[in-house]
Formats: sequence, structure tokens, C-alpha cells
Amino acid sequence: MARSSAPDDQPTPPRGKEAVSRANPSLDASLRPPKLDDFVGQARTVERLRVMIGAARRENRSLDHILLHGPPGLGKTTLAMILAEEMGRPIRITSGPVIERASDLAGLLTSLQEGDVLFIDEIHRISKTVEEFLYSAMEDFRIDIMIDQGPNARSVRLDLPRFTLVGATTRTGLLTAPLRSRFTLQTRLDYYTREQLLSIVQRNAHLLHLNINQAGAEEIARRARGTPRVVNNLLRFTRDYALERSQGKADAATTAAALELLEIDQNGLDEMDHRFLRAMAEKHQGGPVGLNSVGAAIGEDPHTLEEVHEPFLVQEGYIARTPQGRVLTEKGWKATGFRPPNQQGNLL
Ligand SMILES: Nc1ncnc2c1ncn2[C@@H]1O[C@H](COP(=O)(O)OP(=O)(O)OP(=O)(O)O)[C@@H](O)[C@H]1O
Ligand SMILES: [Mg+2]
Repeated sequence: MARSSAPDDQPTPPRGKEAVSRANPSLDASLRPPKLDDFVGQARTVERLRVMIGAARRENRSLDHILLHGPPGLGKTTLAMILAEEMGRPIRITSGPVIERASDLAGLLTSLQEGDVLFIDEIHRISKTVEEFLYSAMEDFRIDIMIDQGPNARSVRLDLPRFTLVGATTRTGLLTAPLRSRFTLQTRLDYYTREQLLSIVQRNAHLLHLNINQAGAEEIARRARGTPRVVNNLLRFTRDYALERSQGKADAATTAAALELLEIDQNGLDEMDHRFLRAMAEKHQGGPVGLNSVGAAIGEDPHTLEEVHEPFLVQEGYIARTPQGRVLTEKGWKATGFRPPNQQGNLL
């Protein structure tokens, strides 16, 4: 296994009464599908990866660099682990802000072996200096670093093994063009369909020993905002709820009750989504408005709004992005329970 924590090696918690104890935290990781065949959805991306993996294996060479981008919780880290697993190589996991200096990067890169996967999460947050070193590391598999200072300063060239860089970012727009272009494949993950989420619900309910029926599973899939991580969170809570309130069985009514306790509505909108939409309606007459203003109005970091909430609200058609800013759509107005000012003169 490429994973160092090897969660799958841990004993499964016993079924029945003893399983009432809180979930083993390592189960978090074990819900990750281990192979490409187990990975649901993202057909285009998966197909592209299959091609690259197949060719690299055929010629016994390392995989080219790959950039995975898209909203949080859709499977970027999971895919990076799968890539390493499929190539039968170890994976080193780090993230943009952690690599502070060029020497950190040099240390990381020189510890790799040919074909190893280096996964840099949040690669858009890498510093400018480190980024420039990454260029030659990715392209020519070498870096020139300066050692010593003053009159003794000199540049030393380090040759690197042909490693595979897998970068992940939720904000590909923040990546510089030179960095982006050094990835052979740049592939975007999109929100999952209901059917895909449903199959993830069913697979993971089984892994969590949750006895959920079809209607219960559909409730979760419908409210999971197109996001497997949300599926997993809702499933875990539903499992706890079912253990506490309904002898461990989750049907549609139990599942709906669990999700209502979490204040997740029929369409998967959570409390923050509703506050977001209401602030646009009440404070900005539906926009156009910038995320900084909305964030200030509801006390949420504008970046979180942009990365976590807005993409789903845009995708589902509650909000539209215009050059002037964000505007509430008709569906968005409906969800707030208010009426647009031009239809009424005043907000209800
Ligand atoms: N296609 C999939 N099939 C089944 N489960 C999935 C799939 N994609 C993701 N998951 C599940 O969702 C969880 C979140 O995925 P992951 O951590 O890979 O998301 P991410 O894109 O890296 O998110 P972030 O941007 O927040 O780092 C995983 O633990 C895994 O269990
Ligand atoms: Mg991740």
C-alpha cells in the first residue's frame, strides 16, 4: 500500500452494541477508494489517467506531472493516492504553504526515487521563490540551489530522479501560467450526479456498517451537494443518529430527521448557504455584489464563500456570476423566501 497510515490494516470495529463508540478516526481514510476501478464518476478524468498510467506502465517509465483542480471534497487527494497505488510507487504528501524555502523543496525532491509520486496539495499557495525552483525540477529534473552567502556563495546543481508531481488546487486561477503549463495533464473534477453519489452512499454505508435502505440512501445523495466528502459526513452522522434513535436502521424518515437536525435542507443547502443567499437579498437587493461585502455581512471569510459555497450555488443556479459581481437568480430569490424588489417595490 502506498499509504503510510495503513488504515485498512486496523481491525474493523465489532458490529452490534460495541460499535456504538465513536467512529475510529482512521475510518475516514479507509473510505477512500483504493483503486481507479473503485473510484466513482469523473469519467473524463479517470479515462485520461488510465491512458497515462497504461502508457507509463507499458514503457516502464514514470508518470508525467498531473494537476487536479476543482472544488473541495471531490476526490483530488484520493486520486493522487490512487495514482501512486496504480503505479505501485510510494507517495509523499505535502502542501504548498508547508514548503517555505527552496531548501525545503530540495530536501523533499532529493529524498525521492525514480517514479515516486510527490503530491503537493494547495499548490496555489506555494511561495514565488519555491515556485521558480519547481520549474526546473519539473521540466529538467534538476535544481540549482545557492549555498553559502557573500563571497563564498555558489550555485550547486542537483540532479533529481524522474519523479511525478501531482498538484491539487481548489483555485486554479491563482496558479501562474508557467507553473500550470508544466503539468502534462490538467484535469478538472466536477460535482457528482445523484446516481454517482448514490453509489458512493451505498458503498460507504456498507463500510460504516450502517443499515440504510434505498430511500434513506437517496435522501443522503440528494442533500450531499454533489460532493463525496459531504456524503461521508452525512453518512457518519446518520449512522450515529440511527444508533441512538432507531436501533441502527436508517430509512427515509430517520435519515431525513438526522439531516434536519444538521439543518441541511431538501436541496442540500446548509445554514451558511442560506445566510449567503439571504444577505444578498436583504442587504444587497439581489446584487450585483462582491463576495467581500457578502462575507462582511455574514461574518464569513470571502475565500471560504468562494471555494466552498459559491461553486455549488452557481452550479445549482441560485447565483449567477456577472462582470459586475454576483446576482441572485430567480431560484435564488425563491430559496430566500423574499421577492425581488422590482416585482414588489419592497422586500417582503
Ligand atoms: N469518486 C469517489 N468515489 C468514492 N469516494 C470518493 C470519491 N471521491 C472522493 N471520495 C471520498 O470523499 C472524501 C474526500 O475526497 P478527497 O479528500 O480526495 O477530496 P479533495 O478533492 O482532496 O478535497 P480538498 O480540496 O478539500 O482537499 C474521500 O475521503 C473519499 O472517501
Ligand atoms: Mg485534498
